[in-house]
Amino acid sequence: MQYENLLLEEENDILIVTINREKALNALNTQTMLELQRLFADDAPHRTYLKGVIITGAGDRAFVAGADIKEFLALDAEQGAAMAQRGQDIFFLIERFSKPVVAAVNGFALGGGCELAMACHLRIASETARFGQPEVNLGIIPGYGGTQRLIQYIGKTKAMELLLTADMLHAQDALRLGLVNDVVPPAEVLPKAKALIEKIAAKGPVAVAKVIEAVNAFFQYNEDGFAREVSEFGATTGTDDFKEGAAAFMEKRAPQFSGK
Ligand code: COA
Repeated sequence: MQYENLLLEEENDILIVTINREKALNALNTQTMLELQRLFADDAPHRTYLKGVIITGAGDRAFVAGADIKEFLALDAEQGAAMAQRGQDIFFLIERFSKPVVAAVNGFALGGGCELAMACHLRIASETARFGQPEVNLGIIPGYGGTQRLIQYIGKTKAMELLLTADMLHAQDALRLGLVNDVVPPAEVLPKAKALIEKIAAKGPVAVAKVIEAVNAFFQYNEDGFAREVSEFGATTGTDDFKEGAAAFMEKRAPQFSGK
């Protein structure tokens, strides 16, 4: 299969997927999301020999700096909800993949980038990584599972704070809070992710797949929360606040929200 925005490389039966939009800090545009969907729905499941998958970002600045703000600027509420639903469905494919998926977080993991990392089974962060859900800066809310998975990983207290303030976490704080599995120097991120997958590859493959299913099942009760996130995301994409927030971002100025 051909991919425009994903670089795929196999090494010792580990699939390394690089989100390759370095100039836009690897922001997830529609094309990239559709390619992730194709990869996890139609391609990777047929590579039955794989030990696991690593997802990382091109360059040394960003894992993924969010959904591509330029693209969803003009969406109305219905289109916004559809976008969030599609994104959640794609990230569920990753979360439910039967082999371990490790995020190698090499820089900013913001918005959709933090949500992508959280959809992976394990996260190895570079010392330079920063995590956050800054959507309220733009006058919207996370739409790819962020309001639900952040609580699962770090608990309601800190999740509420990060979601409301848009503050970013340094890698060591993400480790302390349980958002990531390990923090290593930048050059060690990929080797560490590979070593983790090699370790798991020595275990019973059926058992590994069943652990993933069983752990995911613990959070099934949250599905209403995901649905609520879709409708609330849709409601925020249609607002003047979002138009202003996105315009301010692109014009590199502070937003003046009207509350409409
Ligand atoms: N969508 C689209 N483009 C993005 C992007 C995003 N989420 N994040 C960064 N970019 C683009 C910028 O527009 C800029 O493009 P330009 O060179 O054409 O102006 C380029 O990537 C570099 O980003 P810039 O903001 O100039 O880098 P910085 O070092 O000053 O700041 C960040 C880095 C990550 C703090 C900043 O880019 C940022 O806040 N990004 C948005 C994060 C966000 O809100 N994500 C959630 C989206 S729902």
